[in-house]
Amino acid sequence: MHKDFPSRILFHPSIRPIHHTFGPLATRAQLLQAFLLQFQPWKWHDGKELQELKEELARLFPAGQVSLFDTGRGALLALLRALELAEGDEVILQGFTCAVVPNAIIAAGGKPVYVDIHQKTLALDPALVRAAVTRRTRAIICQHTFGIPADTSALRLICNEKDIALIEDCAHVIPDGENGKIGMHGDAILLSFGRDKAVSGVSGGAIVTRHALIAKRLCEMEARALRRSSWHILNLVGYPLRYACAKMMWPLRLAKAYLHGLRLLRLLPPVLRKQEKAGRAETELFRMPNACAILTLEQLRSLTTINAHRRSIAQLYGAVAQQEHWESPKGALLSPALQKFPLFVKNAESVRQKLKSRQIYLDDGWCGAVVNPRTVNERAVGYCAGSCPNAEDVSQRILTLPTHPTMTRKQAETLLDVLGKMLHTTGT
Ligand SMILES: Cc1ncc(COP(=O)(O)O)c(C=O)c1O
Repeated sequence: MHKDFPSRILFHPSIRPIHHTFGPLATRAQLLQAFLLQFQPWKWHDGKELQELKEELARLFPAGQVSLFDTGRGALLALLRALELAEGDEVILQGFTCAVVPNAIIAAGGKPVYVDIHQKTLALDPALVRAAVTRRTRAIICQHTFGIPADTSALRLICNEKDIALIEDCAHVIPDGENGKIGMHGDAILLSFGRDKAVSGVSGGAIVTRHALIAKRLCEMEARALRRSSWHILNLVGYPLRYACAKMMWPLRLAKAYLHGLRLLRLLPPVLRKQEKAGRAETELFRMPNACAILTLEQLRSLTTINAHRRSIAQLYGAVAQQEHWESPKGALLSPALQKFPLFVKNAESVRQKLKSRQIYLDDGWCGAVVNPRTVNERAVGYCAGSCPNAEDVSQRILTLPTHPTMTRKQAETLLDVLGKMLHTTGT
């Protein structure tokens, strides 16, 4: 137990772990809202905030029509259904992605075609995309990995030439006017409000599109989508509170046992379920609960502050990376509001393991595999080993550093200090 216990250390940030996934967006404002929502069941399913969230998103993406679903993966499935893929139609996506993306393609009746990434952006390499387009290609999903802008201008040209749809996957970033061309070239934009995304409502997803026919089909699907149970919503709303408790228990060394207990009691639903790791998406579409819209809306209205925080921490990492000659994708050094800051290091897995003894947890589920997390059956999601060598290389060497709103600058400095010493001794 910490020697200063029980003084104010329970709330002292320096005694908390440094992490990616430990309630990263459970800010004080979100905790207060989540607490109040526990006692306001009439707000869980329906309410004015769903409409307000749509209006807020339409303001961020002018002229776009917004449809909401209960997850980003659900929103992507709805969009691909709206494209009315025929069996065997191909959808291009990048290597180094999350399993929910190919799963949505498969569930919509399409075939995922993986194209390699450029290590500068961790996004699709347009030259390789051009070579991969066939008569059966219906769409390209362009992922702005961790918020690094992908080359959407080049992809837009290909899509115009070949008459295919460009989907911008903005699950990791919500642009605020200072993120280059993110969100400007896509026929449709995918957003996620999951637990560790750009902003979080614990769960939620949206499609913004300027295409009237696609918007109409999505709107019909949204109207027919099923409701989640009240128990499910209560569980979602409890997530920030449970992590706040876990953080308070951290100095007492009880947090891990507490979280393990919560998982056994199914009070912490996994981000990815077993069948999703085996290539099977949930095929029903669900409505976004109003409770999640309330949480998302509050963070979206603070987007400028959240993105400024992310930029400032990413700039700190970038400055030290350049000074120490650590390798990093060039796109990450252009000061976008990154969801996390990527470095390439030798023995990345061993560095992550060693950092744990310093209470630094950098396994974010985006390491060790081309289709993440590493427990995914890559054959089941249509990935053929060896087909994306850059993505395979990145997956082995990547080490990401957190930038989320509950990560303090002091913690970022501590992380850089510990990491610097470790990389120096291991000669990485
Ligand atoms: C690149 C990417 N796209 C889409 C999604 C789907 O988001 P959600 O978790 O809200 O289903 C995720 C996250 O899982 C993701 O990482």
